[in-house]
Amino acid sequence: MDSAQEVKNHLDIVDIVGEYLQLKPSGSGSFKACCPFHQEKTPSFMVNRPRQSWHCFGCNIGGDMISFIEKIEGMEFVEALELLAGKAGVELPKFNKEQMGEKKSLQQANEYICKLLQHNLLTSPEAKIARDYIKQRGIDDVTADVWKLGYAPADWKDLEVKIKEQGINAEDLIKIGIASPKDNGQGIYFRFRSRLMFPIQDAFGNVIGYTGRILTDEKVAKYINSPETVLYKKSHVLYGLDKAKADIKRDDLAIIVEGNMDALTSHQFNIKNVVASSGTALTPEQLNLIKRFSSNIAIAFDTDAAGLEATLRGMDLARQMEFNIKVIRYDQNIAKDPDELIRKDLDHWKDSIRDAKPIMDWVYQHAFEQFTESTPEGKKLIAQFVLNECRHIPHPVERDAWISKLAKDLDVSPDALRSTLNKSIKYSAKNASDNAQIKEEKKQQELKIEENQQDVAKKMEERWLAAVILSPRLFHEININWQFPPHAKLYNFLKIKYDLSVQATTEEDEDIKNLIDYLAIVADREFEDTGKDSLAREFTTTESILLNQKTKLTRQDLENQMREAERKGDTARIQELLTQFQKLNT
Ligand code: CTP
Ligand code: MN
Repeated sequence: MDSAQEVKNHLDIVDIVGEYLQLKPSGSGSFKACCPFHQEKTPSFMVNRPRQSWHCFGCNIGGDMISFIEKIEGMEFVEALELLAGKAGVELPKFNKEQMGEKKSLQQANEYICKLLQHNLLTSPEAKIARDYIKQRGIDDVTADVWKLGYAPADWKDLEVKIKEQGINAEDLIKIGIASPKDNGQGIYFRFRSRLMFPIQDAFGNVIGYTGRILTDEKVAKYINSPETVLYKKSHVLYGLDKAKADIKRDDLAIIVEGNMDALTSHQFNIKNVVASSGTALTPEQLNLIKRFSSNIAIAFDTDAAGLEATLRGMDLARQMEFNIKVIRYDQNIAKDPDELIRKDLDHWKDSIRDAKPIMDWVYQHAFEQFTESTPEGKKLIAQFVLNECRHIPHPVERDAWISKLAKDLDVSPDALRSTLNKSIKYSAKNASDNAQIKEEKKQQELKIEENQQDVAKKMEERWLAAVILSPRLFHEININWQFPPHAKLYNFLKIKYDLSVQATTEEDEDIKNLIDYLAIVADREFEDTGKDSLAREFTTTESILLNQKTKLTRQDLENQMREAERKGDTARIQELLTQFQKLNT
């Protein structure tokens, strides 16, 4: 048995996929979820347990658990296999450095340097200042350990010796962003010096980069970060997600804070569904990461103007991605950020999480705090701020309820607000697409309809075969022209397999196997709520549609030939075609 098969035998695809998605049972041995690879509201991502396969009907891709990990983690096959082997407790044959792929070897270099800096923090005399700093900030030993905090020395000479011994060269150090080439082209310099190191880890806990904090009040950047590398893409990571994901899933809520320290401290005090955005607006990739574990987010941000702007922008995106968004507020007189708040008053932090408000409530409250409602100018600013958020509310009744409330609180007429709102909606619609774009969309839609008609035939074939896969006794021979060649191949395969009078054996080749995997999932989806009797009925209906389709196509073909014959004045041919036509209709 090959290693891939052995690994798969030890695991269940439902568990593996379930670590990323909220799977719901659907049909016999099937599960569904919203697809992590495209945006959607209704689930079209299916997992089939009996066949240990997955398929998304939206993006039309599928495969086994290894391909799922490859896709969702952005891994190469070998990496995905290793990850699964780790879970399965299966020992894989060793790969050497060349075979391992560059990414993997850089990953190991990163892992080594992280350990080195951790060890350095604990043992080097120079790092006493960092150890004192950690103590002074109240980070306990376990937390420092779990978050792999380290210390980057002023001079890396001693560490460099060890790094070299490990076979990590200057080029590797540059590639992982620990060092840069010197300006004069002679050798390298280390980016992080005399800093407390916070490793940045991906969702699986792999160290991919660093944030380094100064320990004094020097007038230099408080934090410096790794540059973008093959391993580290800033916009693709959320600080702390590897440690937060299980809790995010369990609580069905992701709390997003700004600062790395905010996340770390919250975890230390046992509120662990918390990740840090590291001070920037949320990106689609980050939101997609969260979406794997929950569709609910609660954001806690410092309410300075710049932060607010960035956050609201981030929220537009989150809204489009169907997140429920809440805002966590706490008394800014007690603390300026969650880290400080948690240390001063843990219960206040817990209460503010519990009392998190929908974003609209927060915007409303904030508008009235920010501007004065007693002047006409103030009323205008409040209205603008609130209506700007209001137009994102999908339900008109809810939208109108806010408008009524706002009209009352501002003492203005609701109609004035409504017309302002409508203007802003029209304006944004106009902005979104000019004429040319609309035309292009229309054309695309027409093309789609045409494609759809061809798809119908293919869909019916699919349904017919899926029903047969689900219930082999339904199989019997059918005389149609298969529109999709793989369907014809499978049909012929099944004909031999199910025909008891023929003593031939037939092998499932790769194409057939993949198609059956796919159709098994189609069957689960299509016939999820169908009982045995109804299945037979649905099968008959599908079959008559298929046969009608065949007649229709033949008729179209005859008509074309007839036109051709008329054009040529070939009366004999016309007569012949007419006879065929009549046969069709009987
Ligand atoms: N940040 C950064 N570079 C800076 C300042 C901030 O990358 N020069 C990022 C860091 O990820 C930081 C986050 O923005 O965690 C929030 O910044 P800030 O609130 O200043 O940091 P804190 O986490 O509060 O840091 P500390 O409590 O250590 O001062
Ligand atoms: Mn802070």
